[in-house]
Amino acid sequence: MRIGVLVSGSGTNLQAILDAVRDGDLRAQVALVLSNKPGVKALERASSAGVPTVVLSHKDFANREAFDAEVVRELRARDVDLVVLAGFMRIVTATLLDAFPDRVVNIHPSLLPSFPGVDAQGQALRAGVAIAGCTVHLVDGGMDTGAILAQAAIPVFATDDEERLRVRILAQEHRLFPQVLQWFAEGLVRVDQDAAGHKRVHVATESRATFASAIDAVES
Ligand code: GRF
Repeated sequence: MRIGVLVSGSGTNLQAILDAVRDGDLRAQVALVLSNKPGVKALERASSAGVPTVVLSHKDFANREAFDAEVVRELRARDVDLVVLAGFMRIVTATLLDAFPDRVVNIHPSLLPSFPGVDAQGQALRAGVAIAGCTVHLVDGGMDTGAILAQAAIPVFATDDEERLRVRILAQEHRLFPQVLQWFAEGLVRVDQDAAGHKRVHVATESRATFASAIDAVES
């Protein structure tokens, strides 16, 4: 499996993916790291791992579709078959999604469908939830609305502020994301539609359920 990772920032999830590949836990190749911002740490991480990088500044394109068309061209040039959004701060269009049907995945720092969009951790704290976490999902045309592939949960402590919560959720992201990609590599992910036309994900492994109980595994 050849993965293309789209980034915009620090790239700690990218690092977790690169480390999993290096350690043999993710049997895939990161074929390309593409950033819409020059000079970000994620690009350094890719170069250190010997992964080719491309910078495409969205500001150089007339609209989102034109930008995505160039992204598709770069991904196809590297024979990518799974597109991974890892802190990619752009809304993607049908131009990208139609080129990789059911093969674009994202990670989001909340238990979706709660708290989509920006400042998920702040939204969770303001809502007063007792349990927070992260979600890996298929990308569709909405904002963090695609079918859920996997989730990991953590408790919210009375002492948590946004930064503490962000760091503890991020630790779960780094466990969850490479594992979900490995499910794709093993052909364990199947996507179909329910009667109402909503996409449903089937993952043929019990380990999907064990991530939901990360509270016991990690916090005790
Ligand atoms: C993560 O919290 C991810 O869930 C969100 O953006 C952040 C990216 O962090 N989509 P990093 O660039 O992987 O460090």
